[in-house]
Amino acid sequence: EFKWISLFLTAVLQFTAAAEKLPLSFTVRVGDEVTLPCKNLIASQQNCEYTTWVFTHSNNTAAVVPVLLGQIGEDALSKSDRLSVTETCSLFIKKVTVEDVGYYFCHQYISEEHGPDSLVYLSVVTMTERKDADEVTLNCSVSTYGECEHTVKWLYEGKDVDKDMKTSQSGCYATVSFLDSHFSSKSNLKCEVSDIFSGNVQLFTFSPQSSGEKTARTDRSALDYIMLVMRVAELLLITVITVLLIRARGARR
Ligand SMILES: *[C@@H]1O[C@H](CO)[C@@H](O)[C@H](O)[C@H]1NC(C)=O
Ligand SMILES: *[C@@H]1O[C@H](CO)[C@@H](O)[C@H](O)[C@H]1NC(C)=O
Repeated sequence: EFKWISLFLTAVLQFTAAAEKLPLSFTVRVGDEVTLPCKNLIASQQNCEYTTWVFTHSNNTAAVVPVLLGQIGEDALSKSDRLSVTETCSLFIKKVTVEDVGYYFCHQYISEEHGPDSLVYLSVVTMTERKDADEVTLNCSVSTYGECEHTVKWLYEGKDVDKDMKTSQSGCYATVSFLDSHFSSKSNLKCEVSDIFSGNVQLFTFSPQSSGEKTARTDRSALDYIMLVMRVAELLLITVITVLLIRARGARR
């Protein structure tokens, strides 16, 4: 009995540890802003002087250093006016562009010692509209680092689009086509983007240009829920094992 319980407990502990190491992942629309958090912060810094952010663009060219020891890198990028470091040493990016897609490492460095780096992925949603005669096609696409780990689809009034509209889905984008006369407003059409790493499901209302408008329905969903269940299971198991051990001892006595 003990053997099985302890095997199971080990598996549970390993799973929770692995899940906690998953990188952070953010998906925002072109033109929006985003705050990339830095985990494992060294506590004693005044102006994030132990903090360096390193960015690897999705085209995998050499990494750049947007933030060096708390300062926005001079040579970093043309985008340096869009960057700032928050009080908690997070990297704040405004007017996000497709060029910002990639991964970001937050290094914590103080003399010799430093905490583990934290990793954040940034993905960007772009929406376009095309018109062929009477037919309008909307395209919602997600730019990511590496393989697409997102799912993208169009919803009409919160449901799958109906038969009057053609949809197609492929890789990291989805399109929907309909007759121009069919709609006066496209605002009932939303692009649903699910980010597997973060577990977030976000809804983006169609707009060809960026807008501040956000309809993010954020489900800190599956993963968080599983983690909670696992934690509860851990606690229960530990209790059960303790009780069994105490009983076993009592019996022996
Ligand atoms: C890769 O991305 C960088 C940073 O945005 C850009 O300057 C460079 O031109 C890109 N290189 C290629 C080959 O696309
Ligand atoms: C939708 O946009 C993506 C990214 O720009 C592009 O690769 C794809 O070909 C577009 N799809 C259609 C059907 O226009």
